[in-house]
Amino acid sequence: MTTSSAPGKIILFGEHAVVYGRPALAVPVTQVQATATVSATSRPGIWIEAPEIGLASELSRLAPDHPLAAVIKGVFSALPPPVSPHIFKENGVESGGATIHVTSTIPVASGLGSGAAVSVAIIRALSAFLGQPLPDERVSTLAYEVEKLHHGTPSGIDNTVVTYAKPVYFVKPPSPPGRGARARAEQSRSGEVEILRVGAPFTIVIGDTGLFAPTKESVSDVHTLWEADQPRWEKVFDEVEEIVQKARRVIETGDIPALGPLMDKNHKLLQEMTVSCPELDRLVEAARRSGALGAKLSGSGRGGNMIALVNARNAPALAEALISAGAKRTIVTTV
Ligand code: MEV
Repeated sequence: MTTSSAPGKIILFGEHAVVYGRPALAVPVTQVQATATVSATSRPGIWIEAPEIGLASELSRLAPDHPLAAVIKGVFSALPPPVSPHIFKENGVESGGATIHVTSTIPVASGLGSGAAVSVAIIRALSAFLGQPLPDERVSTLAYEVEKLHHGTPSGIDNTVVTYAKPVYFVKPPSPPGRGARARAEQSRSGEVEILRVGAPFTIVIGDTGLFAPTKESVSDVHTLWEADQPRWEKVFDEVEEIVQKARRVIETGDIPALGPLMDKNHKLLQEMTVSCPELDRLVEAARRSGALGAKLSGSGRGGNMIALVNARNAPALAEALISAGAKRTIVTTV
């Protein structure tokens, strides 16, 4: 039997602009986790059990584009052949099969990276069960392929931060040549993961609107805006990049209070991109009124979560203020 867990994540700065080649900062949220356990069973076949979404099915009965089917098939195709019968036997599955049991405490579709965390946990547990644990880079790439099923044109930040489980400075890898409008950004894209040094710990309160965050739709709507007026939105994304670079320096030097105004500024630009909503704005304003050093939406927006920077001792009071302002749940996390 093999088990693997992966954390949730929040984007501190740079969501949406990251899809256009700008950098973003994201951190893991270890208070919530997805866990996959793979065990041998006498039943033939690969059985997937995900009780929280009412799923109990043999792999071949799932639609080919079902994210859980895609991730499992992705693992099989990533391992050198002949994978299944041979290695399954070596792992004690003589004539039977395997059960993949998935659970998660990460709220779904809320900007906390639940899809990526489930993928990463399955990829690690299954490849280890098959005797060939995959390296982080491969885990992240496979999870990225599944992210595409969730929301079309992901930047790759979710699978990256969830795989490495460390604060990251992320720049989307270059897309194939010929996308002229993004050429400038591409010059600076390394596509590599830089682990962010954190000069001094800081505390974030996460407030959940309880609303589904329609990532595919908001990413697509920002794209429509960008297509209609590229000079305007490239300028907005440049402003986001400036915020991200400043925030990176501030985090590295540990000058934490300086992060607050940067969060407020980033939220304003996200409002301009039309990805906030009244519920997120209400929580962001409540956080500021209740002593947060800064606050913003986090993730794709129009629902999901917001984040507020606080002095650690004020975190419980701020969490309470967010609940009074309508948050369905809060998480306090220290970066
Ligand atoms: C979603 O967690 C973050 C977005 O920037 C989309 C992406 O990066 O793929 C909105």
